[in-house]
Amino acid sequence: MLIQTLEQILEGRRSQPNQLIEVLHDVQKNYGYISQEAMQTVSQALGVPLMEVYRVASFYKAFRLKPSGKNVLTMCLGTACHVRGADLLLNQATGQLGVKPGEVTSDGLFSVEHVNCVGTCALGPIVTENGTYHHRMTPGKLRKLIETLGGQKAEDKENV
Ligand code: FES
Repeated sequence: MLIQTLEQILEGRRSQPNQLIEVLHDVQKNYGYISQEAMQTVSQALGVPLMEVYRVASFYKAFRLKPSGKNVLTMCLGTACHVRGADLLLNQATGQLGVKPGEVTSDGLFSVEHVNCVGTCALGPIVTENGTYHHRMTPGKLRKLIETLGGQKAEDKENV
């Protein structure tokens, strides 16, 4: 992926406050998250108060304010997935990786997140891995997926 610098992202958009969401999307796309420094630069360039930039960046779930792990596992906890055991999947991921939702593993390999619906309810429960959908997920399949991606084996973790 070709990474644009902040200067390139802001080119032709300076002093245009109505470009805020587009610019934040581009920052997110290029850097994986929106840092405090990026918010300050965007604020000055577009002429939008820093508080407003922060408010918008923290309001939309599509924007991250912290770097994510190399592999982002997202559990759908919407109603259709919930009734099919989504909580068990979240417990599997957080237990196996030793993190809470929203956290990154200490080796930077994984982030665990959750959302309320990804739009494929009939195929739930759903887990996405870096945007790839895994339908009808089970705790066992999720354990293997995590191991395949380099996560600790569940039985190894018990011996630590
Ligand atoms: S509730 Fe999980 S995809 Fe809709």
